[in-house]
Amino acid sequence: MRRVLDLGCGTGNLPVKANVEVDEVVGVDIDERRLALARQRFPQRSFHCARGESLPFANASFDRVVSAVALPYMDIPRTLAEVRRVLAPGGSVFFSVHPVRFTLGELWKCAPNPLAMAYRCYVLLNGLVFHASGRNLRWAGRTESFQTEHGLRVALERAGFGEVVFSRPVGRLLVEARTAAADGRGRVPAAIGFPVSSRARSWRKASGGENSKRNLPPAS
Ligand SMILES: C[S@@+](CC[C@H](N)C(=O)[O-])C[C@H]1O[C@@H](n2cnc3c(N)ncnc32)[C@H](O)[C@@H]1O
Repeated sequence: MRRVLDLGCGTGNLPVKANVEVDEVVGVDIDERRLALARQRFPQRSFHCARGESLPFANASFDRVVSAVALPYMDIPRTLAEVRRVLAPGGSVFFSVHPVRFTLGELWKCAPNPLAMAYRCYVLLNGLVFHASGRNLRWAGRTESFQTEHGLRVALERAGFGEVVFSRPVGRLLVEARTAAADGRGRVPAAIGFPVSSRARSWRKASGGENSKRNLPPAS
């Protein structure tokens, strides 16, 4: 049984290629309206309204957790601890996140609105804190940040992940990592996941472009 969790699934855009062996795709999001759409679009998948920081699943109940640009809005250390908990030994993660360029672009777009700019400055500061420490600051109930390779590596390793591999398709930052299997080896065949850079190139080519945040590699 291969179970994949789509974390921060929104309307359920995770593509799963027909030739990839996945028995069940489960989506989680905090937005009920997006989940309602997701349920209409993918009646064969199950969707849950929950926070990434508090997942309503048993320990070791997924083989892979995938998240497209949703981690940047979460409390990353708490979410990674939860992701680690629900992953089976040897399970893997694949996240696309926000590089600093994204947040600078958002800051530029909201000028000269002072409130919106103040929020974007907080996101920038939070990203710097994340870069240095792998932790987030909470402000007015928000934890949004941008991510860097250094901050992600620190946060992932602290949460118990290894084999951390990054790739940077144009304007994006992708990271893949894995939990240790009981026998010390990845349970998922290595050919499916590594190296990320060449894999990212092939799925970008297959999916027809580099700029669509919707196109994630298939769940392995
Ligand atoms: C930019 S959207 C991406 C949605 C989807 N992954 C996609 O690629 O279309 C970010 C999603 O993360 C969800 N989200 C934000 N914070 C969350 C949290 N703490 N727990 C779960 N989902 C969250 C939002 O509701 C939103 O649907």
